[in-house]
Amino acid sequence: MTATIISGKELAREKREQMKIEVEQLKSQGIVPGLAVILVGEDPASQSYVKSKQKSCYEVGIHSELDEVSVSITEDELLHKIDVLNKADHIHGILVQLPLPSHISEKAVIEAINPSKDVDGFHPINVGRMMTGQEAFLPCTPYGIVEMIKSKGIELEGQQVVVVGRSNIVGKPVGQLLLNENATVTYCHSRTKNMKQITRTADILVVAVGKAHFINKEYIKEGAVVIDVGVNRNEEGKLVGDVVFDEAKEVASYITPVPGGVGPMTITMLLYNTIVSAKRLVSKG
Ligand code: GUN
Repeated sequence: MTATIISGKELAREKREQMKIEVEQLKSQGIVPGLAVILVGEDPASQSYVKSKQKSCYEVGIHSELDEVSVSITEDELLHKIDVLNKADHIHGILVQLPLPSHISEKAVIEAINPSKDVDGFHPINVGRMMTGQEAFLPCTPYGIVEMIKSKGIELEGQQVVVVGRSNIVGKPVGQLLLNENATVTYCHSRTKNMKQITRTADILVVAVGKAHFINKEYIKEGAVVIDVGVNRNEEGKLVGDVVFDEAKEVASYITPVPGGVGPMTITMLLYNTIVSAKRLVSKG
């Protein structure tokens, strides 16, 4: 079997074309969706993510502001910046790029963001709403993954899903979103015993461990759908996923590539959440 590629790049392009039209319509009503991004320090990976977010906002017509602050900013100073953005009428989404330096509490920062501007979907209010199936900002990577699976008409109800990884940003919430779609969800993580036996039961295998080539074909059931969330650099500096793509594509029915898979969809759902937020905040007046 040679797997069909689920191209996040292609789906992202289609969705962004639709969003461009929607933003045009909002602008004709005097509404310009606005996203504020705060980047603390000079981590090259974070700088690169933030630059992509800015560029994507520009392409779709979303107003974006980037505040690049020194790694030595205090927690209080950062919380003050968030407070100003919470009150700014032209800002509908606030994103503080993670990770933060160790002297700043990520919990305090996330909780300081007004949940109605939390387009990352990281605030406990949004996490709780998502868990209980209420309307919420959904975290962008998990949301993008669900959209990619649905775009191929792949059934989720009753399917065995195995998620490898349990981070708050990807692993835990993607399992929850797939549970909300009536899948049967199992989590594997660093303490899991006999991981191969478990992953081989998966109709849909989501891998988010952040380790290059962690999953080879022996972990994958024939015909499974494989979603690779990993973005790692190999020795040659090339981007590779958590899955050995060349092996996995011979076993899987569908697979996401790296790059061009989940990555472009993460930013797309951030843009989507920002537009939704603008519409909601404006309709509330
Ligand atoms: N760092 C890595 N991924 C993300 C993300 O989706 N949002 C934020 N704020 N920081 C991140």
